[in-house]
Amino acid sequence: MGLSHAVLIAVILLTCSFSATAAPSNSCLECHQTHYVEQGICAGCHHGNQRTSRKGLAHSGLIRGRYASFTNSRSAEVLSGIQLAEKAACRRCHVLNDTGNRLATNLDSLLWTAQPEAIRSALVNPALYMPIFHFSELDLNRLVTTVLAGGLKAGKALREPPMVVHFSAAESAKQNIFVKNCGSCHKLLSKRDGGLGVGIVGPNLSGLLSKFYPQTFEDNKTWDEEKLKRWLENPRAVRKNAVMRPVPLKPEEWDQLLKTFATS
Ligand code: HEC
Ligand code: HEC
Ligand code: HEC
Ligand code: HEC
Repeated sequence: MGLSHAVLIAVILLTCSFSATAAPSNSCLECHQTHYVEQGICAGCHHGNQRTSRKGLAHSGLIRGRYASFTNSRSAEVLSGIQLAEKAACRRCHVLNDTGNRLATNLDSLLWTAQPEAIRSALVNPALYMPIFHFSELDLNRLVTTVLAGGLKAGKALREPPMVVHFSAAESAKQNIFVKNCGSCHKLLSKRDGGLGVGIVGPNLSGLLSKFYPQTFEDNKTWDEEKLKRWLENPRAVRKNAVMRPVPLKPEEWDQLLKTFATS
């Protein structure tokens, strides 16, 4: 008696679990044809909701075709996006693919926290301390795809809240060494003091003393403390046609400036 009951229960359990694992209905196919079947399910590359045939719901959080290559880290889109990010030196401010300075939002978290179109518009209408790049539509597709790919690699665990960069408008900020001596011509995103300076005639100097800043010192060298010191003493001794004038600093001012440039 006990045994037959147990067998019956086992049979019921098996039947239930079998029907639960039967192929889930894919309602995307009610409106679309399949493609890339061998590379996974629709939602793997496009997100969205496969369990409803209402378009609005099925498309919620949809990743459009132009970004859907993010699941393939060796796709042409992702690879050229990485090159673009390298050239634009996004990593002097952001982490991308697990590398970079943490002065602004970790881009690897955006796959999980932002819509692709919001990532795109952040590049078209950049925040105050992010440079304006003027990317082409095609390059925007590639960069967004690369940012999403970075998120996939980082994994779902990475759900960092967006970074809030503070702007030092306070009276005390006006005494800041960078604001006083450089801020009329340059901007700087500083780990310690947030966004500093308002100038646009000189380059945005965020991350200057880190390896992620473009190698703009003579002969494509990376900037460091000693090179910055040489530059401030006399830019024309470094770059023949430099427009920037020498900025003489007292030793204590130099120390303060270095602290402002620190990225960690
Ligand atoms: C009720 C019909 C319907 C369902 C269900 C549906 N779609 Fe769509 N989908 C459309 C239509 C119609 C378009 C054309 C553009 C538009 O109207 O949004 C479209 C467009 C798309 C696009 C192209 C967008 C672009 O610009 O690249 C993708 C990708 C897509 N759907 C994926 C999916 C996926 C994945 C699912 C399932 C999770 C799904 N769709 C479910 C009707 C549907
Ligand atoms: C391996 C990733 C991948 C999978 C899986 C995948 N797609 Fe796509 N999808 C893409 C890419 C990449 C594009 C961009 C155009 C192209 O490469 O074909 C795209 C484009 C689309 C488009 C837009 C087509 C157009 O011409 O605008 C639709 C609709 C779409 N996919 C629906 C689906 C549906 C439905 C499924 C599930 C049956 C699915 N996709 C599975 C990667 C994928
Ligand atoms: C000089 C520093 C700097 C550089 C270089 C820079 N950004 Fe930004 N970026 C910022 C700041 C500041 C913000 C706004 C505050 C934040 O999100 O941390 C921002 C915001 C963003 C956002 C929106 C983040 C969100 O939370 O929604 C994206 C996406 C982004 N940047 C991508 C890029 C990419 C891609 C590059 C390279 C092409 C780049 N940024 C280069 C400073 C920079
Ligand atoms: C009156 C405007 C002005 C001031 C003030 C100024 N700069 Fe510059 N700076 C420039 C300009 C313009 C450039 C572009 C290169 C050139 O001189 O042609 C530049 C270039 C630079 C560069 C080279 C960056 C690169 O990628 O090529 C560094 C580093 C730099 N400035 C640091 C500073 C620092 C630090 C201060 C303050 C102590 C400062 N600058 C103050 C105008 C200024």
